[in-house]
Amino acid sequence: MDLGRTGDVISTIGYGAMGLSVAGRPERRTAARVIEKVLDAGISFIDSANVYCLNGEDLGHNERLLAAVLKGRPDRHAIRVASKVGLRRSGDAWIRDASPVHIRAACERSLQALNAERIYLYQLHAVDPRVPLRISLEAMATLRNEGKCAHVGLSNVTAQQIVQATSVVPITTVQNRLSPFYRESVTGQVVETCRRLGITFLAYRPFGGARLSQSVSEFQSIRLLARNRNATAHQITLAWLRGLSPNIVPLVGTTKIEHVQECAVAAAINLTAAEMTSIASDPWIRNVRFCSP
Ligand SMILES: NC(=O)c1ccc[n+]([C@@H]2O[C@H](COP(=O)([O-])OP(=O)(O)OC[C@H]3O[C@@H](n4cnc5c(N)ncnc54)[C@H](OP(=O)(O)O)[C@@H]3O)[C@@H](O)[C@H]2O)c1
Repeated sequence: MDLGRTGDVISTIGYGAMGLSVAGRPERRTAARVIEKVLDAGISFIDSANVYCLNGEDLGHNERLLAAVLKGRPDRHAIRVASKVGLRRSGDAWIRDASPVHIRAACERSLQALNAERIYLYQLHAVDPRVPLRISLEAMATLRNEGKCAHVGLSNVTAQQIVQATSVVPITTVQNRLSPFYRESVTGQVVETCRRLGITFLAYRPFGGARLSQSVSEFQSIRLLARNRNATAHQITLAWLRGLSPNIVPLVGTTKIEHVQECAVAAAINLTAAEMTSIASDPWIRNVRFCSP
């Protein structure tokens, strides 16, 4: 599918590489094999961030890992790697910093870690309450004008912030949480605003994160559809996300080779309107957000 208005085409399922670098991460050789599998399965869009690491000393772990694997790939020019800026790590805490000084310094470090002259898609990880959004985005626009990134994206934003951002710099993607369990980006008009403005919506935590992902097959609507479609519950969940709007790309966050292939082939499943509704109206799924932190 088209990535924003870039004219570039990416796979309809993306890969979120966070789990390969944060606490509980697999050993390096396994992580590299997972990335190879992602690429071999036809997933051509990978989401990273400088802060996907264990702590401040480990900053850039995920970007370095991706760079090392991509270096040996003949298809590396067709792979789109996105990174992010706007958070710091201190110990195992994640702290917002979207000041222009931090954005510039972090960009230089990410370029080094990615072993690249230009970051394909550079996303503002989160809005910093101490820095006006416009100021953070002007810093991103400057990097783009200098050729240090090709495209700019946003993350963890509201519909209003997206509209505001587009007056400062062209926005290619918006990355917010979206799953059957957490739909605030749909109810809050974020997905629709993106669609209207030609922005790709990157759905992070498509399975609701580590804990909920273990129980997607326990929800009756998903389990029934999986059985009827001869698919897995995780594949049905991805199909449901894609069915919400043509501009949605789910970012799958697996650390297991066997799950990569399973998720990649979910791109072939298209749900009917009735099937979409059965998940949207499942009372048990709707209840999750009231029960989880
Ligand atoms: N912008 C932001 O602020 C932000 C925040 C969070 C995440 N993200 C992005 O979104 C990506 C995904 O988010 P996430 O990892 O938190 O949540 P997620 O993808 O909803 O859930 C990840 C969990 O799902 C499991 N899983 C994945 N595929 C599976 C399958 N086919 N069968 C069974 N279990 C499966 C994984 O376990 P296994 O490892 O065992 O497969 C893992 O525990 C991240 O990697 C990151 O790129 C962005």
